[in-house]
This record gives sequence, C-alpha cells and structure tokens, in this order.
Amino acid sequence: MKEKLEQIKAAALDEIAAAANSADCEAVRVKYLGKKGELTAILKMMGGLSPEERPIMGQLVNSAKAEVEAVLGQKMTEMEAKATEQKLMAETVDITMPAKVSKRGKLHPLNTVLNDMIDIFQSMGFDVVDGPEVETDHYNFECLNVPADHPARDMQDTFYLGENLLLRTQTSAAQIRTMENRKPPIRVICPGRVFRADEVDATHSPVFHQIEGLVVDKGITMCDLKGVLEQFAHEIYGADTKVKFRPSFFPFTEPSVEVDVSCSECGGKGCRVCKGAGWIEILGAGMVHPNVLRSCGIDPEEYSGFAFGIGLDRLTTTRYKISDIRLLFENDKRFLDQF
Ligand code: DAH
Repeated sequence: MKEKLEQIKAAALDEIAAAANSADCEAVRVKYLGKKGELTAILKMMGGLSPEERPIMGQLVNSAKAEVEAVLGQKMTEMEAKATEQKLMAETVDITMPAKVSKRGKLHPLNTVLNDMIDIFQSMGFDVVDGPEVETDHYNFECLNVPADHPARDMQDTFYLGENLLLRTQTSAAQIRTMENRKPPIRVICPGRVFRADEVDATHSPVFHQIEGLVVDKGITMCDLKGVLEQFAHEIYGADTKVKFRPSFFPFTEPSVEVDVSCSECGGKGCRVCKGAGWIEILGAGMVHPNVLRSCGIDPEEYSGFAFGIGLDRLTTTRYKISDIRLLFENDKRFLDQF
C-alpha cells in the first residue's frame, strides 16, 4: 500500500510539472484530490488495515496529500500570473495609433457676415433690436405709409396667414415698433429673416435676411445717411470700394435711394459676380417719410431721420463667391465645411 502511495504521489507530481495551463492543473486536482480521486481512494482503503498500521499509514497518506496540494497550489498561482501577464500584453494601448478626430461646429457664413455687420454698426453707436417674424398688416405696411390699396404692395409678394396677419416681407416693421417704444435720439439696427412668395432660383429664395437700420434725432440730414452708409460699405468691402447713391422709391422714405458698391471681384470692370455691371446693389435707404414719423407719434417738424435695409444674403454670396443663394439654406454639411 505504501508503494502504491509513492507511485500515485510521483505520478501526480509529474503531471503537475507537465501541466501547461490552469485547466490542466484543475484536471490533475480532480484526478488525485477530488471526491473520486486516487489519493482520496487510498484514504478510504484504510479501513482494511490493522489498528497498529492505520495511524502510520494515515500519516503517510495525509502528508502525501498535503505535498501534492502544496505543489499544485503553487503551480496554479504561477499559471494565473502567466495568464494575467498574457492578457495585459494583449491589451496594451498603442500610443502611436492615430486619434479619432472629433469634428467641431462652426458659424454659418450668414452669421459670420452678420456678426461683422453688427460690429460695424455697434462701433457707430447703434443698438441691436429684435422684431417678430409673424407681423400684422399694421406694422408691415400701414404704418410704413403703404395703405391697403397702395400700388407699392405689389413690390412685395406677401405670405398671408389671415386677414391681418402675415410673415413680414421686410424688417422695416421693426422701425415702427422701435419708434413706439423709444424716444429720440434713436439709433438701432434690426437683423432678421423676411419672407416673400418669390419663385425660387439661384438669386431668389422665399426666405432671406435683412438688416434694418433707423436713426431719428433733431437735425438728421441726407449727409448723415451718406456718411454712415459709406463708412459701412468701406468697412465691409474695403476702403477703396466706390459707393454710388441712386435715386429710387420706397413708400416709407422721401427722398429714397438705392446704394451700389463697385464689384470687389472685378474692381468695376464687369464680371460673373456683378453680372457684367461692375456694381452690386446692397441696400435701399432714405429719409424717413413724415407720415411714418407721425404714425409713431413723433413730430416731423421737430425730428427727422434716415432708414436703410441691407440684404444680408447678397453680401454673403458676393463675399464668399457663392453662385447660388439656395446653398445658404440647404445646410449641406459638405458645403458648410468649406467656411
Ligand atoms: N424694406 C425695403 C425692402 O425690403 C428696404 C428698405 C428700403 C428699407 C429703404 C428701408 C429703407 O429702411 O429706408 O426692399
């Protein structure tokens, strides 16, 4: 029996030494130390021994068992350490790998140009005010000297929302709201979206943007209008840009003008951007009509003023040489990424 024990122990130790991984170790444990294992079986055979032999043999079996357990335990610890090391090796971070680039948002070209315009007018002492996109007939037309049967209504194809409710066709409505809420001296600009039932093409969109301007004070003249708008044109287009004031008509100003700037692309020779004209029209303006001042409770004998409406979209397309206004509204990321 003693010999048998020695054989079993030697075999167990050999197998432990040969084990290549923790699964092998576990198999050895079950084979020798498990409930039906070979060393456990020997202990069970002790019943057949004489009372003198039993304790001696018992001691031998127990010490063999303890030895196998100890060697196996150590091997298992080694295997686990090796497995952990292999896992760590496999998981190492490659710090030379290219990083994932996270894309940052940026300003829409319309906003970039608008911010520049706001800076220019703020530096001249203008406040920025806001007005509603859904307007009443009263603010969009009546108070601006365009009564219901006035032919000038045909100048702007209007989206009506009801009898008296419409989508503003011009930011000029903000002039009236401002004069109702503020006393002169007034110096404001009002940027915003405007709406007209125009056919859509490369230069027309049913939604576009204007910046309205209004100055009202004692002794304001056409010279102030020219000075402010010339200064604006030079700052936005460059100091050597030529500025031309053409007589025009708007119901809410008298006299009225339209302002052209020399084409910054061709310097006035004529090109694709200015459609061969050498000039680009950028705004309408004029001296505030006495009727408009009166409709807001301002005495035209005491006060005078000038107003202007600048098209933001044209300014943006010419600055960035964008050939089609629709690109400004489609929000195609491939287009916007270029700015
Ligand atoms: N509201 C005009 C338009 O949409 C532009 C305009 C012209 C605004 C003259 C003004 C102005 O304030 O004085 O065509």
